Amino acid sequence: MRTLSIFSSVGVLALATVSTGFEATNTYIIPSTMVSSGVTIQTNAADLSPFDGPKISAVNGSSFDWWYFDVVSPTASITISFQTGTFDALGYPGYNVPYATFCNVAGIYPNGSTFSIPVVLAGPAIITTVGDGAYGNWTGSGFSFSGTPDLSEVTVNLEAALSYGIEGIITFKSIAPAHYATGLISDRSSSEILLPHFGWANAVPDSVANVDLTLFGEKFTFSGRGYHDKNWGMLPLQDLINNWYWGHAKVGPYSVVFFDALDKNNVEYTSAYIAVNGVPIKAGPVAIVRPYGKNITYPQTKPATLFAGLTIEIDVGVRGVYAFKTVSQTVLTSTDNDGYGYTRAQGVIIGGPVGGKQHKGYGLWDWQHFYN
Ligand SMILES: *[C@@H]1O[C@H](CO)[C@@H](O)[C@H](O)[C@H]1NC(C)=O
Ligand SMILES: *[C@@H]1O[C@H](CO)[C@@H](O)[C@H](O)[C@H]1NC(C)=O
Ligand SMILES: *[C@@H]1O[C@H](CO)[C@@H](O)[C@H](O)[C@H]1NC(C)=O
Ligand SMILES: *[C@@H]1O[C@H](CO)[C@@H](O)[C@H](O)[C@H]1NC(C)=O
Repeated sequence: MRTLSIFSSVGVLALATVSTGFEATNTYIIPSTMVSSGVTIQTNAADLSPFDGPKISAVNGSSFDWWYFDVVSPTASITISFQTGTFDALGYPGYNVPYATFCNVAGIYPNGSTFSIPVVLAGPAIITTVGDGAYGNWTGSGFSFSGTPDLSEVTVNLEAALSYGIEGIITFKSIAPAHYATGLISDRSSSEILLPHFGWANAVPDSVANVDLTLFGEKFTFSGRGYHDKNWGMLPLQDLINNWYWGHAKVGPYSVVFFDALDKNNVEYTSAYIAVNGVPIKAGPVAIVRPYGKNITYPQTKPATLFAGLTIEIDVGVRGVYAFKTVSQTVLTSTDNDGYGYTRAQGVIIGGPVGGKQHKGYGLWDWQHFYN
């Protein structure tokens, strides 16, 4: 999940003590320029390692680390990314923008018109973690976010009316606990690596979210399902990934998140999450996501044809197999340059336990592909 298109006042984060989790405060400053050295990335959860904190030692021109947020309703959506990494490393090769800290915003109005704002270049990103939560300030841009130490609430704050025509606040009240690529937040022995050199930590798998923005001089407000995660990597995205399908949805009582990726050798790595009324019943490498539609094969080949939808199968062990299918989609953005591109869509999804009660819901998904 990604989108196309740091001085903190530690005092601000002196939040009420929570009985679970830890309270350590750390501040990281990520310059908007690159270092010229090798870097390391975080691969395993650890007791005192902030869930939503920075996961790479530095941005060096190959490495990247982003914080992603979206809110989706049956008709509208918005996606916001806080990026650290060069454009090239983030999957836009050829964009020789010597910048490592920027933000993207894109979405769709309830009437179906899409919007995006130009890339927001920022100064240093200042990230302060308290417990598992993070406060991030992409200085100079007016873009910041702030999460509580236990990740129960996150706020995105946009103050860029004059520069980018966007201002306001988005709030996320989590209803489902966070998870790493391979386990729940409570399991600090989890691996955070989805595939070699690429990490995933999903701080807010599902939430009740409110968007209260002014966009290009008009009110843009809606409520929906909110989601927040982060991905990071050691090498440019296009050198790690051939293909991925990712998405999140609320389907009846189920909060569903899926990620199914092929690395450069077409080896499949997956991760899925299901919570029932907010209680996780699965977090781990158990998803099979496949595209369907006319002329669609798997793995997809170049030039890549857009699928009509996705099927998602999640093995929940003793509770059986859950299956979901996207049944309609509104494409929010789609590029394919000879098999090299990115598509994002939102729409209707149905499913539930195989052979059991089926529910209808909605969500947002994306498809990243780099068929060299
Ligand atoms: C972000 O940092 C800048 C520069 O220090 C500061 O002026 C601004 O108030 C900060 N924004 C927030 C929301 O904390
Ligand atoms: C960044 O660091 C990684 C890991 O050490 C290394 O493989 C890569 O070549 C480095 N990239 C640059 C541009 O120095
Ligand atoms: C859709 O709504 C937006 C926001 O109100 C407006 O700017 C845009 O012109 C509308 N598009 C159409 C096709 O009506
Ligand atoms: C499917 O492939 C056939 C043969 O190449 C082509 O004529 C047709 O337009 C394709 N259909 C779609 C929906 O891409």
